[in-house]
Amino acid sequence: MKSASLQSRKETLLADLQACRIGTLNLVADLDRDTLCRQAHPEFSPIGWHLGHIAFTEALWILQHLANLAPQFREYQRLFAADGLPKAHRQDLPSQDFLLTYLATIREQVLAYLRQIAPDQLQSQERLWHWLIQHESQHNETIAFILQLHRWRSPYLSFSQPETLTGVAFPKMVEIPAGEILLGSNDLCAQDNERPAYPVYVPRFWLDRYPVTCAQYRDFTAAGGYQRRDWWSEAGWQWLQLNPVSQPLYWSNSPDWDNHPVCGVSWYEADAYARHLGKRLPTEAEWEKAASCHPHKGKQTYPWGEMPPSPKLCNYNTLVGHTTPVNAYPLGQSASGCYDLLGNVWEWTASDFVHYPDFQSYPYQGYSQTYFDRQHRVLRGGSWATRPWGLRASFRNWYHPWVRQILAGFRCAKDVSDSKRTNSAMEQSSD
Ligand code: AVJ
Ligand code: FE
Repeated sequence: MKSASLQSRKETLLADLQACRIGTLNLVADLDRDTLCRQAHPEFSPIGWHLGHIAFTEALWILQHLANLAPQFREYQRLFAADGLPKAHRQDLPSQDFLLTYLATIREQVLAYLRQIAPDQLQSQERLWHWLIQHESQHNETIAFILQLHRWRSPYLSFSQPETLTGVAFPKMVEIPAGEILLGSNDLCAQDNERPAYPVYVPRFWLDRYPVTCAQYRDFTAAGGYQRRDWWSEAGWQWLQLNPVSQPLYWSNSPDWDNHPVCGVSWYEADAYARHLGKRLPTEAEWEKAASCHPHKGKQTYPWGEMPPSPKLCNYNTLVGHTTPVNAYPLGQSASGCYDLLGNVWEWTASDFVHYPDFQSYPYQGYSQTYFDRQHRVLRGGSWATRPWGLRASFRNWYHPWVRQILAGFRCAKDVSDSKRTNSAMEQSSD
């Protein structure tokens, strides 16, 4: 990245801004007004709000902060600002045509500004441009979450599933050796919450080679997983009593899904599943170690190395449009032998979303710092809807532990002190 000239980095930014926008527009092509304006779930704003907010954010940070232009579309400031109206009050929206015009009008000025900027000026702004692209990427993924909520169990999901890989040997867990890892990233593209990278010692542990599959989860459900108080945390059991669910949100009993990862579970469900096997969720440091540490090459950006994501390496970028079997991407495995660490489903970790030492907010407090309240848990790895700009081993996502309206699954970990028992458990297909 450092070696590329500023001119070529500018070209890359221009291309990425446009590629990301095409992704946004493709997601919302031919939506009806109801899908655009209705809140699919209290956790999320309507899709149309996300469109306006993407334009608003771009105008705020680029046109106002960098280009010193006066605010435009001022009547929409309160509606589309992140700290404006509560989510439930964001349903009275302008038309899709207006929203697309808003996006295009701001974007035109943003591109004009970026094209004329002097190289030395660009250098001081680069981090903000990268942030902006990731901001749109993330709202883009949230739109994909909402579309999934709107469309689940409607004709949309009657797609034909890819061929099921049955009879595959599932070596259950891999052992990750003890050692220090540089957690996080100092890369220009890293978000404030990933910085600065700092050393953490991670003891030896076992980690599931694959995310937990639907077939494996069915055993938990059949064993009374949703009835067995002893498998649930105190808070998890309370949540379950108030929200009596009996299967993941995006669940199908069809054997076609057996090798797909579980998708649409809360942290509480993931935690209970892990406990029923005498396992636990990995900490985010454990997860990142397994996902990025190469025994000889050291820390890598992606599990497979430094090559940017591609459709041969993982299930991302809404290219497939749904989950894939957990062993579908052998080329994307980590040096530690884990599959599907990036893409397919987000993975809950045991960790609270807290700041790394010497954290500094960027570009504003409400981006991460507001959420360092010990009420949010970290998810890692990205989903089938994650755009390439948010896909890397150090990226941290966060949600409340009760949220399951996201494309989230998990994999389990285990302490090595129990290695003998884990080893024999590894041989059992019922694991
Ligand atoms: C990181 C996905 C939890 O959507 O709340 C978007 C990303 N922050 N605009 C969110 C975000 C500001 C954030 N998540
Ligand atoms: Fe935002």
